Amino acid sequence: MAPVPLSEMPDLREAFTGSRKNFIIIGHRARTDALFSLDDLPGTGGRWDGLARCVSASILLSHGVRKDTSVHLVLEGPPDPPKIISVSGGRAKYMNPDERSMVAYLRRGLDTPLPKRALMSVNVSPGVFVTRGGLADVMDLVFTRGFVLDENGNSACDLPFWRDTAVKGEPLAFYLSDDTDLMEEERSLLKGKGSTFISLGPKVLHAYQAIVLMHSILDRAEQGI
Ligand SMILES: C[S@@+](CC[C@H](N)C(=O)[O-])C[C@H]1O[C@@H](n2cnc3c(N)ncnc32)[C@H](O)[C@@H]1O
Repeated sequence: MAPVPLSEMPDLREAFTGSRKNFIIIGHRARTDALFSLDDLPGTGGRWDGLARCVSASILLSHGVRKDTSVHLVLEGPPDPPKIISVSGGRAKYMNPDERSMVAYLRRGLDTPLPKRALMSVNVSPGVFVTRGGLADVMDLVFTRGFVLDENGNSACDLPFWRDTAVKGEPLAFYLSDDTDLMEEERSLLKGKGSTFISLGPKVLHAYQAIVLMHSILDRAEQGI
């Protein structure tokens, strides 16, 4: 198929270029259909519990929503990988922070038939999109400066440019893994595209905890503190 410009694919454009901040989490075992029990998110869900927490941490505040942030879950588990669920904080509605409600809300998108062809995208509810594709596709579609959150990276707090990106409104993408390490080919892909590996401290955190800390750094940079 000849490449189609993003500008001619409205769902893709809205899903991947609508937000300044983007958190991308790779769910290596996360189910790609809706046939798993809400009572067993860590087991048969393939760690959908952790992904739900990542969505909450990315876009929900105590009394509001981060309208400048999207989260993209790269789902690589059975039976129909790869798929990407994107949630736009600026557009999504009816989200609750508890894991079961969040997964129930997002899981509906996995019922929607999706062509096998790469980069077909469906707008399943306001601000929620399901796209056929994997990590390489997200990287191409978000198409912005990339950072891999990694406990062995350079300290994120010491980097001087967060304030600058805030002033310029520069889009940013942050890549995280689920409860397992990034695979070697994923690391190579991210390195190959020039992503910077940054650490939020010496302890290994849950992915959702790393997202909260990264938001804190960006919030402070935006306020010049
Ligand atoms: C539970 S950790 C991944 C598993 C971990 N690498 C291990 O040893 O099993 C989930 C993700 O959170 C992020 N993360 C965890 N600790 C971090 C830290 N100290 N700094 C930056 N990111 C971190 C990374 O993206 C990591 O892939």
